[in-house]
Amino acid sequence: MTAGRGRATGKVILAGEHFVVYGAPAIAVPLPAVALEVEIRGPGGGPAPGGHVAACARIMHERWGGPDPAGLSIAVRSEIPVAAGLGSSAALSVALARAWAGLVGRAAGEGELREGSLACERLAHGAPSGIDTEVAVTGRAVRFVRGEAPRPQAVAAGIGLVVIDTGMPASTREMVEAVARGRAEAPVRFERLLAEASERADEVADALAAGDVARLGGALDGAQPLLAAVGVSTPEIERAVAAARAAGAAGAKLTGKGGGGTVIAACRESDAAALAERLRGAGWAVVAAGRIAPAA
Ligand code: MEV
Repeated sequence: MTAGRGRATGKVILAGEHFVVYGAPAIAVPLPAVALEVEIRGPGGGPAPGGHVAACARIMHERWGGPDPAGLSIAVRSEIPVAAGLGSSAALSVALARAWAGLVGRAAGEGELREGSLACERLAHGAPSGIDTEVAVTGRAVRFVRGEAPRPQAVAAGIGLVVIDTGMPASTREMVEAVARGRAEAPVRFERLLAEASERADEVADALAAGDVARLGGALDGAQPLLAAVGVSTPEIERAVAAARAAGAAGAKLTGKGGGGTVIAACRESDAAALAERLRGAGWAVVAAGRIAPAA
């Protein structure tokens, strides 16, 4: 029986989500604590896939050939909360592309994986900037500007991150479309927010490279009102951000699409477990707590 397997991890956008669609830099890091695996089995291996998984399989079949997806069984095992802003959709696209490459015996490099999985992502939310896919393909911290070659982001040792789930799923497509409508209604205001978001992203990049947790926290705190101003924060997100700060985080903001989803809090690596405990004690669901992996 033919078989293919693929894996990819979640991601966290530290700065620049939404604004990245309009040219601002965004900074993202992998979230190895949560991963997604896809296993494809040949005919007779189980029920045929449906929905988005089947649609992605058809895309990979069109690009790289192989058996008819309708006759295959495709199992997805995921630890990444769905629709929470942690890149579950990109991880699915990348893991499926990897599994399909294995199935058809194709030695797909990063470039091919990027293109194949981005084609799947376009199904999920129209015009993705590509940042989620980039992190899922490379597994590296990245500084991403739409239309430019992604640059590896330096990350010093000792930086901690706690990820809080508000438990409220949101659609990336709907959130991206809501921001687009707001931009069309008030373009001058949006340009000002875009410029400020670019500055916060540059601060985050510098703080990560220098291992400056206080500066990182300040930049996250500075980015949150900009995201609120384009309409992607919610009362629950604001409560989670306030709870993280009250529990001792250096700074906090929503991550990814917003509209619910997850909030990130920065701290020293040595403080991450205690911060997570305090947040759990206050009733918050903590998805991950640990370090941001250092990178050259
Ligand atoms: C979603 O994880 C990030 C957004 O900026 C959309 C995108 O970049 O494609 C909201």
